[in-house]
Amino acid sequence: MILVLDFGSQYNQLITRRIRELGVYSELHSHKLTAEAIKRMNPKGIIFSGGPHSVYDENSYRCDEGIFDLDIPILGICYGMQLMALHFGGKVEKDKHREYGKADINLSHDALLFKDAPKNQVVWMSHGDKVVETPSSFQIDATSPSTPIAAFSHQEKSLFGVQFHPEVRHTEYGTNLLNQFVFDVCGCEGNWTIGNYIEMEVKKIQDKVGNRKVLCALSGGVDSSVVAALIHKAIGDQLTCIFVDHGLLRKNEADDVMKTFADDFHMNIIKIDAQQRFLSKLKNVSDPEMKRKIIGNEFIYVFDDEASKIKEIDFLAQGTLYTDIIESGTETAQTIKSHHNVGGLPEDMEFELIEPLNALFKDEVRELGTQLGIPDHIVWRQPFPGPGLAIRVLGEVTEEKLKIVRESDAILREEIAKAGLERDIWQYFTVLPNIRSVGVMGDSRTYDYTIGIRAVTSVDGMTSDWARIPWDVLEKISTRLVNDVEHINRVVYDVTSKPPATIEWE
Ligand code: XMP
Repeated sequence: MILVLDFGSQYNQLITRRIRELGVYSELHSHKLTAEAIKRMNPKGIIFSGGPHSVYDENSYRCDEGIFDLDIPILGICYGMQLMALHFGGKVEKDKHREYGKADINLSHDALLFKDAPKNQVVWMSHGDKVVETPSSFQIDATSPSTPIAAFSHQEKSLFGVQFHPEVRHTEYGTNLLNQFVFDVCGCEGNWTIGNYIEMEVKKIQDKVGNRKVLCALSGGVDSSVVAALIHKAIGDQLTCIFVDHGLLRKNEADDVMKTFADDFHMNIIKIDAQQRFLSKLKNVSDPEMKRKIIGNEFIYVFDDEASKIKEIDFLAQGTLYTDIIESGTETAQTIKSHHNVGGLPEDMEFELIEPLNALFKDEVRELGTQLGIPDHIVWRQPFPGPGLAIRVLGEVTEEKLKIVRESDAILREEIAKAGLERDIWQYFTVLPNIRSVGVMGDSRTYDYTIGIRAVTSVDGMTSDWARIPWDVLEKISTRLVNDVEHINRVVYDVTSKPPATIEWE
Protein backbone atom coordinates (compact mmCIF):
# COMPACT_ATOMS: atom_id res chain seq x y z
CA MET A 1 0.00 0.00 0.00
CA ILE A 2 1.14 3.51 -0.79
CA LEU A 3 -0.02 6.09 1.73
CA VAL A 4 -0.75 9.59 0.47
CA LEU A 5 -0.76 12.31 3.10
CA ASP A 6 -3.15 15.15 2.41
CA PHE A 7 -1.76 18.69 2.75
CA GLY A 8 -4.77 20.31 1.13
CA SER A 9 -4.30 20.20 -2.63
CA GLN A 10 -7.59 20.00 -4.57
CA TYR A 11 -6.07 17.19 -6.60
CA ASN A 12 -4.61 15.07 -3.82
CA GLN A 13 -6.91 12.11 -4.51
CA LEU A 14 -5.63 12.12 -8.07
CA ILE A 15 -2.33 10.89 -6.69
CA THR A 16 -3.92 7.86 -5.02
CA ARG A 17 -5.88 7.29 -8.14
CA ARG A 18 -2.84 7.32 -10.42
CA ILE A 19 -1.14 4.85 -8.09
CA ARG A 20 -4.17 2.54 -8.22
CA GLU A 21 -4.06 2.78 -12.01
CA LEU A 22 -0.59 1.26 -11.72
CA GLY A 23 -2.11 -1.74 -9.91
CA VAL A 24 -1.00 -0.72 -6.44
CA TYR A 25 -3.47 -0.01 -3.64
CA SER A 26 -3.27 3.51 -2.27
CA GLU A 27 -5.14 5.48 0.37
CA LEU A 28 -5.35 9.17 1.15
CA HIS A 29 -5.13 10.18 4.81
CA SER A 30 -4.86 13.34 6.85
CA HIS A 31 -1.45 14.91 7.36
CA LYS A 32 -2.20 14.60 11.08
CA LEU A 33 -1.61 10.85 11.05
CA THR A 34 1.06 10.03 13.64
CA ALA A 35 4.26 8.17 12.80
CA GLU A 36 3.08 5.43 15.15
CA ALA A 37 -0.21 5.02 13.26
CA ILE A 38 1.62 4.96 9.95
CA LYS A 39 3.98 2.30 11.23
CA ARG A 40 0.96 0.13 12.06
CA MET A 41 -0.47 0.65 8.56
CA ASN A 42 2.85 -0.57 7.20
CA PRO A 43 2.83 1.22 3.82
CA LYS A 44 5.57 0.48 1.32
CA GLY A 45 5.90 4.15 0.50
CA ILE A 46 4.53 7.57 1.49
CA ILE A 47 3.66 10.50 -0.75
CA PHE A 48 3.22 14.02 0.63
CA SER A 49 0.65 15.88 -1.48
CA GLY A 50 0.82 19.52 -2.53
CA GLY A 51 -1.09 22.17 -0.62
CA PRO A 52 -2.15 25.82 -0.71
CA HIS A 53 0.03 27.04 2.16
CA SER A 54 3.55 28.31 2.52
CA VAL A 55 5.66 26.19 4.87
CA TYR A 56 6.45 29.41 6.75
CA ASP A 57 2.76 30.29 7.39
CA GLU A 58 1.85 30.27 11.04
CA ASN A 59 -0.95 27.74 10.53
CA SER A 60 0.62 25.73 7.76
CA TYR A 61 0.00 22.00 7.79
CA ARG A 62 2.84 19.95 9.23
CA CYS A 63 3.35 16.25 9.72
CA ASP A 64 4.65 14.16 12.58
CA GLU A 65 8.43 14.58 12.19
CA GLY A 66 8.85 10.97 13.32
CA ILE A 67 7.68 9.94 9.85
CA PHE A 68 11.14 10.75 8.50
CA ASP A 69 12.68 8.16 10.85
CA LEU A 70 10.42 5.27 9.82
CA ASP A 71 12.75 4.18 7.06
CA ILE A 72 9.89 4.22 4.54
CA PRO A 73 10.53 5.84 1.12
CA ILE A 74 8.93 9.28 0.79
CA LEU A 75 8.05 11.31 -2.29
CA GLY A 76 7.19 14.95 -1.58
CA ILE A 77 5.19 16.79 -4.24
CA CYS A 78 5.30 20.62 -4.34
CA TYR A 79 4.41 21.66 -0.77
CA GLY A 80 5.43 18.13 0.28
CA MET A 81 8.88 18.68 -1.21
CA GLN A 82 9.22 22.02 0.57
CA LEU A 83 8.25 20.44 3.88
CA MET A 84 10.88 17.77 3.39
CA ALA A 85 13.50 20.39 2.48
CA LEU A 86 12.71 22.34 5.63
CA HIS A 87 12.93 19.29 7.86
CA PHE A 88 16.38 18.34 6.58
CA GLY A 89 17.81 21.87 6.78
CA GLY A 90 17.19 23.19 3.26
CA LYS A 91 15.72 26.59 2.46
CA VAL A 92 12.35 27.55 0.97
CA GLU A 93 11.50 31.00 -0.37
CA LYS A 94 8.54 32.86 -1.77
CA ASP A 95 8.69 33.28 -5.53
CA LYS A 96 8.25 36.81 -6.87
CA HIS A 97 5.83 35.40 -9.40
CA ARG A 98 3.57 32.44 -8.84
CA GLU A 99 4.52 29.81 -11.41
CA TYR A 100 1.44 28.21 -12.91
CA GLY A 101 1.35 26.08 -16.04
CA LYS A 102 3.69 24.10 -18.22
CA ALA A 103 7.45 24.30 -17.70
CA ASP A 104 10.46 22.62 -19.29
CA ILE A 105 12.81 20.77 -17.00
CA ASN A 106 16.27 19.42 -17.64
CA LEU A 107 17.53 16.35 -15.84
CA SER A 108 20.85 16.85 -14.09
CA HIS A 109 21.96 13.20 -14.24
CA ASP A 110 20.51 9.67 -14.36
CA ALA A 111 18.23 10.16 -11.41
CA LEU A 112 16.29 7.11 -10.26
CA LEU A 113 12.81 8.60 -10.55
CA PHE A 114 13.49 9.76 -14.11
CA LYS A 115 14.87 6.48 -15.43
CA ASP A 116 14.09 5.91 -19.11
CA ALA A 117 12.63 9.41 -19.47
CA PRO A 118 14.11 12.02 -21.85
CA LYS A 119 16.62 14.56 -20.52
CA ASN A 120 14.26 17.43 -21.39
CA GLN A 121 10.59 17.13 -20.57
CA VAL A 122 7.46 19.15 -19.95
CA VAL A 123 5.97 19.25 -16.44
CA TRP A 124 3.05 21.03 -14.76
CA MET A 125 3.96 23.61 -12.14
CA SER A 126 1.62 25.31 -9.69
CA HIS A 127 3.40 26.96 -6.80
CA GLY A 128 4.10 30.20 -4.97
CA ASP A 129 7.14 29.04 -2.94
CA LYS A 130 10.11 26.94 -3.99
CA VAL A 131 13.15 25.24 -2.55
CA VAL A 132 16.19 27.50 -3.01
CA GLU A 133 18.76 25.45 -1.11
CA THR A 134 18.83 21.68 -0.93
CA PRO A 135 19.48 20.07 2.44
CA SER A 136 23.05 18.76 2.72
CA SER A 137 23.63 15.35 1.14
CA PHE A 138 20.57 15.79 -1.11
CA GLN A 139 21.26 16.11 -4.82
CA ILE A 140 19.50 18.16 -7.46
CA ASP A 141 17.84 15.87 -10.01
CA ALA A 142 16.15 18.39 -12.30
CA THR A 143 16.13 22.12 -12.98
CA SER A 144 13.91 24.48 -14.92
CA PRO A 145 14.67 28.08 -15.96
CA SER A 146 12.60 29.58 -13.15
CA THR A 147 12.95 26.73 -10.64
CA PRO A 148 16.62 25.69 -10.38
CA ILE A 149 15.70 23.00 -7.85
CA ALA A 150 12.77 21.35 -9.63
CA ALA A 151 13.52 17.90 -8.18
CA PHE A 152 15.90 16.60 -5.54
CA SER A 153 16.67 13.32 -3.80
CA HIS A 154 18.61 11.50 -1.15
CA GLN A 155 18.85 8.13 -2.82
CA GLU A 156 20.29 6.15 0.11
CA LYS A 157 17.47 7.28 2.35
CA SER A 158 14.95 6.90 -0.49
CA LEU A 159 13.71 10.48 -0.10
CA PHE A 160 12.55 12.35 -3.18
CA GLY A 161 11.02 15.73 -3.86
CA VAL A 162 9.51 17.24 -7.00
CA GLN A 163 8.32 20.82 -7.32
CA PHE A 164 5.98 19.95 -10.19
CA HIS A 165 2.88 17.73 -10.20
CA PRO A 166 3.44 14.23 -11.61
CA GLU A 167 -0.22 13.31 -10.93
CA VAL A 168 -1.48 15.84 -13.49
CA ARG A 169 -1.72 14.63 -17.08
CA HIS A 170 0.08 17.73 -18.40
CA THR A 171 3.27 16.38 -16.83
CA GLU A 172 4.39 14.28 -19.80
CA TYR A 173 6.34 11.68 -17.85
CA GLY A 174 4.41 11.93 -14.58
CA THR A 175 3.13 8.38 -14.71
CA ASN A 176 6.64 7.21 -15.47
CA LEU A 177 7.90 8.99 -12.37
CA LEU A 178 5.20 7.54 -10.11
CA ASN A 179 5.87 4.15 -11.66
CA GLN A 180 9.56 4.42 -10.74
CA PHE A 181 8.75 5.46 -7.18
CA VAL A 182 6.17 2.77 -6.59
CA PHE A 183 8.01 -0.17 -8.17
CA ASP A 184 11.73 0.59 -8.22
CA VAL A 185 11.95 2.52 -4.97
CA CYS A 186 9.14 1.02 -2.87
CA GLY A 187 9.16 -2.49 -4.34
CA CYS A 188 5.37 -2.78 -4.80
CA GLU A 189 4.03 -5.64 -6.88
CA GLY A 190 1.29 -4.14 -9.04
CA ASN A 191 -1.34 -6.87 -8.76
CA TRP A 192 -4.15 -4.84 -7.21
CA THR A 193 -7.43 -4.60 -9.15
CA ILE A 194 -10.91 -3.20 -8.57
CA GLY A 195 -11.90 -6.81 -7.80
CA ASN A 196 -9.66 -6.61 -4.73
CA TYR A 197 -11.52 -3.48 -3.75
CA ILE A 198 -14.80 -5.43 -3.80
CA GLU A 199 -13.34 -8.16 -1.59
CA MET A 200 -11.86 -5.62 0.78
CA GLU A 201 -15.04 -3.56 1.06
CA VAL A 202 -17.31 -6.60 1.41
CA LYS A 203 -15.19 -7.73 4.33
CA LYS A 204 -15.16 -4.24 5.86
CA ILE A 205 -18.96 -3.97 5.55
CA GLN A 206 -19.48 -7.41 7.10
CA ASP A 207 -17.18 -6.58 10.01
CA LYS A 208 -18.83 -3.24 10.60
CA VAL A 209 -22.45 -4.35 10.28
CA GLY A 210 -22.31 -7.78 11.89
CA ASN A 211 -25.90 -9.02 12.07
CA ARG A 212 -27.43 -5.55 12.21
CA LYS A 213 -29.43 -3.86 9.47
CA VAL A 214 -28.62 -1.32 6.79
CA LEU A 215 -30.89 1.08 5.00
CA CYS A 216 -29.80 2.24 1.58
CA ALA A 217 -30.82 5.42 -0.19
CA LEU A 218 -31.41 4.06 -3.67
CA SER A 219 -31.91 6.69 -6.35
CA GLY A 220 -31.37 4.50 -9.38
CA GLY A 221 -28.27 6.48 -10.34
CA VAL A 222 -24.92 4.80 -10.86
CA ASP A 223 -23.54 5.53 -7.41
CA SER A 224 -26.41 4.37 -5.25
CA SER A 225 -27.02 1.34 -7.49
CA VAL A 226 -23.42 0.24 -7.07
CA VAL A 227 -23.55 0.84 -3.32
CA ALA A 228 -26.74 -1.18 -3.02
CA ALA A 229 -25.28 -4.06 -5.06
CA LEU A 230 -22.04 -4.01 -3.06
CA ILE A 231 -23.79 -4.01 0.28
CA HIS A 232 -26.28 -6.61 -0.90
CA LYS A 233 -23.32 -8.80 -1.82
CA ALA A 234 -21.91 -8.34 1.66
CA ILE A 235 -25.00 -8.76 3.83
CA GLY A 236 -27.88 -9.93 1.61
CA ASP A 237 -31.30 -9.51 3.22
CA GLN A 238 -30.01 -7.36 6.06
CA LEU A 239 -30.20 -4.56 3.49
CA THR A 240 -33.40 -2.63 2.85
CA CYS A 241 -33.47 -0.03 0.08
CA ILE A 242 -35.61 3.04 0.20
CA PHE A 243 -36.40 4.91 -2.93
CA VAL A 244 -37.67 8.43 -2.36
CA ASP A 245 -39.55 10.03 -5.18
CA HIS A 246 -38.94 13.67 -4.24
CA GLY A 247 -40.63 14.94 -7.37
CA LEU A 248 -37.30 16.24 -8.66
CA LEU A 249 -36.57 13.23 -10.85
CA ARG A 250 -36.37 12.96 -14.61
CA LYS A 251 -39.27 11.83 -16.77
CA ASN A 252 -40.39 8.20 -16.06
CA GLU A 253 -37.43 7.72 -13.73
CA ALA A 254 -39.38 6.52 -10.72
CA ASP A 255 -41.08 3.72 -12.68
CA ASP A 256 -37.80 2.68 -14.29
CA VAL A 257 -36.02 2.43 -10.95
CA MET A 258 -38.73 0.28 -9.42
CA LYS A 259 -38.82 -2.02 -12.41
CA THR A 260 -35.05 -2.54 -12.50
CA PHE A 261 -34.33 -3.05 -8.83
CA ALA A 262 -37.51 -4.60 -7.48
CA ASP A 263 -38.23 -6.86 -10.46
CA ASP A 264 -34.80 -7.67 -11.87
CA PHE A 265 -32.53 -7.44 -8.83
CA HIS A 266 -35.06 -8.79 -6.32
CA MET A 267 -33.97 -6.23 -3.80
CA ASN A 268 -36.00 -5.25 -0.83
CA ILE A 269 -37.28 -1.78 -1.88
CA ILE A 270 -39.74 0.59 -0.29
CA LYS A 271 -40.92 3.46 -2.48
CA ILE A 272 -41.94 6.70 -0.81
CA ASP A 273 -43.97 9.34 -2.61
CA ALA A 274 -42.77 12.59 -1.09
CA GLN A 275 -43.24 15.07 -3.93
CA GLN A 276 -45.45 17.47 -2.03
CA ARG A 277 -43.29 17.33 1.08
CA PHE A 278 -40.20 18.48 -0.84
CA LEU A 279 -42.01 21.07 -2.94
CA SER A 280 -43.54 22.74 0.08
CA LYS A 281 -40.14 22.94 1.81
CA LEU A 282 -38.68 24.54 -1.31
CA LYS A 283 -41.39 27.17 -1.60
CA ASN A 284 -39.97 30.71 -1.78
CA VAL A 285 -36.38 29.43 -1.56
CA SER A 286 -34.09 30.59 -4.34
CA ASP A 287 -30.59 30.40 -2.88
CA PRO A 288 -28.76 27.37 -4.37
CA GLU A 289 -26.97 26.36 -1.18
CA MET A 290 -30.22 26.64 0.81
CA LYS A 291 -31.97 24.46 -1.74
CA ARG A 292 -29.26 21.83 -1.50
CA LYS A 293 -29.31 21.82 2.29
CA ILE A 294 -33.11 21.66 2.50
CA ILE A 295 -33.29 18.72 0.10
CA GLY A 296 -30.44 16.92 1.86
CA ASN A 297 -32.08 17.39 5.25
CA GLU A 298 -35.51 16.40 4.05
CA PHE A 299 -34.07 13.26 2.56
CA ILE A 300 -32.68 12.14 5.87
CA TYR A 301 -35.92 13.06 7.70
CA VAL A 302 -37.90 10.94 5.24
CA PHE A 303 -35.50 8.11 5.96
CA ASP A 304 -35.78 8.63 9.67
CA ASP A 305 -39.57 8.42 9.42
CA GLU A 306 -39.38 5.23 7.41
CA ALA A 307 -36.66 3.68 9.54
CA SER A 308 -38.70 4.19 12.68
CA LYS A 309 -41.39 2.09 11.01
CA ILE A 310 -38.98 -0.69 10.05
CA LYS A 311 -37.24 -0.78 13.45
CA GLU A 312 -33.71 -1.75 14.36
CA ILE A 313 -31.94 -0.05 11.50
CA ASP A 314 -28.45 1.08 12.50
CA PHE A 315 -26.74 2.14 9.32
CA LEU A 316 -27.46 4.37 6.37
CA ALA A 317 -25.60 3.57 3.14
CA GLN A 318 -24.88 6.36 0.70
CA GLY A 319 -23.22 6.54 -2.71
CA THR A 320 -20.95 9.42 -1.81
CA LEU A 321 -17.99 9.67 -4.17
CA TYR A 322 -14.64 11.21 -3.58
CA THR A 323 -15.52 14.18 -5.80
CA ASP A 324 -18.57 14.92 -3.60
CA ILE A 325 -16.35 15.07 -0.54
CA ILE A 326 -13.52 17.09 -2.00
CA GLU A 327 -15.85 19.71 -3.52
CA SER A 328 -17.83 20.03 -0.31
CA GLY A 329 -14.59 20.90 1.43
CA THR A 330 -12.54 18.50 3.50
CA GLU A 331 -10.63 19.59 6.54
CA THR A 332 -7.94 20.87 4.20
CA ALA A 333 -9.63 21.76 0.88
CA GLN A 334 -11.92 24.75 0.29
CA THR A 335 -15.70 24.43 -0.23
CA ILE A 336 -16.87 24.89 -3.82
CA LYS A 337 -20.44 23.54 -3.55
CA SER A 338 -21.92 21.59 -0.69
CA HIS A 339 -22.89 18.35 -2.33
CA HIS A 340 -26.18 16.79 -1.49
CA ASN A 341 -24.75 13.66 0.10
CA VAL A 342 -22.42 15.51 2.40
CA GLY A 343 -23.40 19.05 3.33
CA GLY A 344 -27.09 18.30 3.73
CA LEU A 345 -26.77 15.96 6.67
CA PRO A 346 -28.69 17.26 9.67
CA GLU A 347 -26.86 17.31 12.97
CA ASP A 348 -29.42 15.21 14.83
CA MET A 349 -29.03 12.29 12.45
CA GLU A 350 -29.82 8.93 13.96
CA PHE A 351 -27.83 6.64 11.68
CA GLU A 352 -24.23 5.70 11.34
CA LEU A 353 -23.09 6.19 7.75
CA ILE A 354 -21.63 3.61 5.40
CA GLU A 355 -20.05 5.16 2.32
CA PRO A 356 -18.01 2.49 0.60
CA LEU A 357 -17.40 4.53 -2.57
CA ASN A 358 -16.03 7.62 -0.92
CA ALA A 359 -12.47 6.96 -2.08
CA LEU A 360 -13.45 6.44 -5.71
CA PHE A 361 -13.97 8.52 -8.83
CA LYS A 362 -16.93 8.03 -11.14
CA ASP A 363 -15.14 5.92 -13.72
CA GLU A 364 -13.82 3.63 -10.99
CA VAL A 365 -17.38 3.23 -9.68
CA ARG A 366 -18.55 2.24 -13.15
CA GLU A 367 -15.85 -0.40 -13.34
CA LEU A 368 -16.85 -1.65 -9.90
CA GLY A 369 -20.50 -1.82 -11.01
CA THR A 370 -19.63 -3.90 -14.07
CA GLN A 371 -17.61 -6.27 -11.90
CA LEU A 372 -20.59 -6.61 -9.60
CA GLY A 373 -22.70 -7.69 -12.56
CA ILE A 374 -24.85 -4.57 -12.85
CA PRO A 375 -26.17 -4.19 -16.42
CA ASP A 376 -24.69 -1.60 -18.76
CA HIS A 377 -27.76 0.59 -18.97
CA ILE A 378 -27.38 1.38 -15.27
CA VAL A 379 -23.61 1.40 -15.05
CA TRP A 380 -23.41 3.80 -17.99
CA ARG A 381 -26.27 5.98 -16.91
CA GLN A 382 -25.14 9.57 -16.82
CA PRO A 383 -24.57 11.11 -13.40
CA PHE A 384 -27.57 12.81 -11.83
CA PRO A 385 -27.22 15.04 -8.77
CA GLY A 386 -28.92 14.17 -5.48
CA PRO A 387 -30.92 17.45 -5.41
CA GLY A 388 -32.18 16.49 -8.87
CA LEU A 389 -33.96 18.95 -11.11
CA ALA A 390 -34.20 21.45 -8.24
CA ILE A 391 -30.67 22.67 -9.04
CA ARG A 392 -31.49 22.84 -12.74
CA VAL A 393 -34.34 25.24 -12.13
CA LEU A 394 -32.49 28.39 -11.16
CA GLY A 395 -34.13 30.33 -8.38
CA GLU A 396 -37.40 29.21 -6.84
CA VAL A 397 -38.61 25.72 -7.77
CA THR A 398 -42.22 25.48 -8.92
CA GLU A 399 -44.20 22.66 -10.45
CA GLU A 400 -44.53 24.58 -13.71
CA LYS A 401 -40.77 25.10 -14.00
CA LEU A 402 -40.01 21.50 -13.07
CA LYS A 403 -42.29 20.39 -15.86
CA ILE A 404 -40.36 22.50 -18.36
CA VAL A 405 -36.94 21.04 -17.39
CA ARG A 406 -38.35 17.53 -17.16
CA GLU A 407 -39.92 17.63 -20.62
CA SER A 408 -36.97 19.38 -22.23
CA ASP A 409 -34.49 16.99 -20.60
CA ALA A 410 -36.41 14.01 -21.99
CA ILE A 411 -36.29 15.48 -25.50
CA LEU A 412 -32.58 16.22 -25.23
CA ARG A 413 -31.87 12.67 -24.06
CA GLU A 414 -33.95 11.22 -26.86
CA GLU A 415 -32.13 13.21 -29.53
CA ILE A 416 -28.67 12.49 -28.11
CA ALA A 417 -29.51 8.78 -28.13
CA LYS A 418 -30.82 8.99 -31.70
CA ALA A 419 -27.55 10.64 -32.75
CA GLY A 420 -25.60 7.81 -31.06
CA LEU A 421 -23.73 10.24 -28.80
CA GLU A 422 -24.67 8.77 -25.39
CA ARG A 423 -21.23 7.36 -24.62
CA ASP A 424 -19.30 10.29 -26.09
CA ILE A 425 -20.94 12.89 -23.91
CA TRP A 426 -20.37 12.38 -20.22
CA GLN A 427 -23.38 14.33 -19.01
CA TYR A 428 -26.10 16.29 -20.80
CA PHE A 429 -29.17 18.00 -19.47
CA THR A 430 -31.23 21.14 -19.72
CA VAL A 431 -31.37 24.01 -17.25
CA LEU A 432 -33.98 26.66 -16.78
CA PRO A 433 -32.37 29.99 -15.97
CA ASN A 434 -34.73 32.51 -14.53
CA ILE A 435 -34.93 34.38 -17.80
CA ARG A 436 -37.82 35.25 -20.03
CA SER A 437 -37.40 36.97 -23.33
CA VAL A 438 -39.39 38.17 -26.29
CA GLY A 439 -40.00 35.92 -29.25
CA VAL A 440 -42.36 35.54 -32.15
CA MET A 441 -44.37 32.43 -32.90
CA GLY A 442 -46.81 32.37 -35.78
CA ASP A 443 -47.70 36.02 -35.98
CA SER A 444 -47.77 36.61 -32.27
CA ARG A 445 -45.36 38.05 -29.82
CA THR A 446 -44.31 35.67 -27.03
CA TYR A 447 -42.70 36.42 -23.72
CA ASP A 448 -41.46 33.10 -22.43
CA TYR A 449 -38.65 31.07 -20.94
CA THR A 450 -35.14 30.45 -22.21
CA ILE A 451 -33.83 26.92 -21.80
CA GLY A 452 -30.12 26.15 -21.62
CA ILE A 453 -28.46 22.98 -22.88
CA ARG A 454 -25.47 21.76 -20.88
CA ALA A 455 -23.44 18.90 -22.33
CA VAL A 456 -19.94 18.07 -21.18
CA THR A 457 -17.17 15.58 -21.71
CA SER A 458 -15.27 14.53 -18.62
CA VAL A 459 -13.47 11.60 -17.04
CA ASP A 460 -14.35 12.07 -13.42
CA GLY A 461 -16.43 15.23 -13.07
CA MET A 462 -13.54 17.15 -11.49
CA THR A 463 -12.84 18.94 -14.75
CA SER A 464 -14.87 18.99 -17.94
CA ASP A 465 -15.07 20.46 -21.40
CA TRP A 466 -18.22 21.40 -23.29
CA ALA A 467 -19.24 18.75 -25.77
CA ARG A 468 -18.92 19.57 -29.47
CA ILE A 469 -22.41 18.39 -30.43
CA PRO A 470 -22.78 18.57 -34.24
CA TRP A 471 -24.74 21.62 -35.40
CA ASP A 472 -27.43 19.56 -37.10
CA VAL A 473 -28.11 17.62 -33.90
CA LEU A 474 -28.28 20.88 -31.94
CA GLU A 475 -30.62 22.28 -34.54
CA LYS A 476 -32.99 19.33 -34.20
CA ILE A 477 -32.93 19.58 -30.42
CA SER A 478 -33.57 23.31 -30.51
CA THR A 479 -36.51 22.97 -32.90
CA ARG A 480 -38.11 20.23 -30.84
CA LEU A 481 -37.63 22.08 -27.56
CA VAL A 482 -39.41 25.17 -28.83
CA ASN A 483 -42.14 23.24 -30.61
CA ASP A 484 -42.85 20.48 -28.10
CA VAL A 485 -42.32 22.10 -24.72
CA GLU A 486 -44.79 24.70 -23.66
CA HIS A 487 -43.33 28.04 -22.48
CA ILE A 488 -39.96 27.78 -24.22
CA ASN A 489 -39.24 30.34 -26.91
CA ARG A 490 -35.42 30.41 -26.86
CA VAL A 491 -32.62 27.83 -26.60
CA VAL A 492 -29.00 28.56 -25.64
CA TYR A 493 -25.96 26.28 -25.51
CA ASP A 494 -23.49 26.53 -22.63
CA VAL A 495 -19.93 26.62 -24.01
CA THR A 496 -17.98 26.87 -20.75
CA SER A 497 -15.56 24.31 -19.42
CA LYS A 498 -14.99 23.42 -15.76
CA PRO A 499 -13.13 25.27 -14.40
CA PRO A 500 -14.02 28.14 -14.49
CA ALA A 501 -17.69 27.05 -14.50
CA THR A 502 -19.07 23.95 -12.79
CA ILE A 503 -21.05 21.27 -14.60
CA GLU A 504 -24.37 22.05 -12.91
CA TRP A 505 -25.50 25.66 -12.87
CA GLU A 506 -26.22 25.73 -9.15
P1 XMP B 1 -20.40 20.23 -10.51
O1 XMP B 1 -21.65 20.99 -10.80
O2 XMP B 1 -19.95 20.40 -9.10
O3 XMP B 1 -20.77 18.70 -10.68
O4 XMP B 1 -19.30 20.50 -11.49
C1 XMP B 1 -19.86 17.65 -10.72
C2 XMP B 1 -20.66 16.36 -10.83
O5 XMP B 1 -21.37 16.12 -9.61
C3 XMP B 1 -22.76 16.09 -9.83
N1 XMP B 1 -23.38 16.77 -8.69
C4 XMP B 1 -23.88 16.13 -7.63
N2 XMP B 1 -23.98 14.81 -7.35
N3 XMP B 1 -25.04 15.33 -5.30
C5 XMP B 1 -24.59 14.43 -6.19
O6 XMP B 1 -24.72 13.22 -5.94
C6 XMP B 1 -24.97 16.67 -5.52
O7 XMP B 1 -25.39 17.47 -4.70
C7 XMP B 1 -24.36 17.08 -6.75
N4 XMP B 1 -24.11 18.29 -7.29
C8 XMP B 1 -23.50 18.07 -8.48
C9 XMP B 1 -22.98 16.81 -11.14
O8 XMP B 1 -24.18 16.40 -11.77
C10 XMP B 1 -21.74 16.41 -11.91
O9 XMP B 1 -21.86 15.13 -12.43
